Amino acid sequence: MRAAASRMRGRENLVGAEVGVEWGEHAREMINGLSIDLLYLVDPYIVSWLHCFPLSNIPMTVEESMRQYQAACKRLEPHRGFREGWKIKWIHKFSWQIDEFEIPNESLDFAYLDADHVYQTVKMDLTVWWPKIKPGGMLSGHDFDFPSVRKAVEEFIREKEGEISEHGNDGKNVKSDWWAFKK
Ligand SMILES: C[S@@+](CC[C@H](N)C(=O)[O-])C[C@H]1O[C@@H](n2cnc3c(N)ncnc32)[C@H](O)[C@@H]1O
Repeated sequence: MRAAASRMRGRENLVGAEVGVEWGEHAREMINGLSIDLLYLVDPYIVSWLHCFPLSNIPMTVEESMRQYQAACKRLEPHRGFREGWKIKWIHKFSWQIDEFEIPNESLDFAYLDADHVYQTVKMDLTVWWPKIKPGGMLSGHDFDFPSVRKAVEEFIREKEGEISEHGNDGKNVKSDWWAFKK
């Protein structure tokens, strides 16, 4: 499990979200490593990697997106209902389309943002997901070493008078995590 999500270790009955799920690898790590009651998995599975990562040269087809979703379902399916009351909830929408009716404000212990990495979209994600975090909960994300992500996060969290923590390369994940707790 990555550095940000591991901050939730020791807390019970978590309600959280991963925004940008892809193959479901990190979602599975969180499910295995944390006491999660409900994990929202938000990913439309129709986005080109060229859009997520503007500097990337990896082409992404609809077929590849579907392969990712099928693999994620397979990976996460065994965990459905592995204990009473536990569930995952897929939401096949863009991050910014999740309104207060879908996920109420102040209902999440944590959210992990790892979707579109373009500055404007990260800014929009932060604006949408910050209100959904409970006081004492954590907003976090991946790829803090992307200048676009770092700029958006630093501006937003500064505005909220919050404090950013970060964790760099751990030898396996070259990319870094960030997190901020809501007062
Ligand atoms: C880097 S991958 C996520 C990897 C995953 N978090 C992990 O570590 O295993 C990015 C994913 O974000 C999704 N995505 C891109 N833009 C999105 C958006 N605006 N809202 C939700 N998901 C988005 C893509 O479909 C892709 O599957």
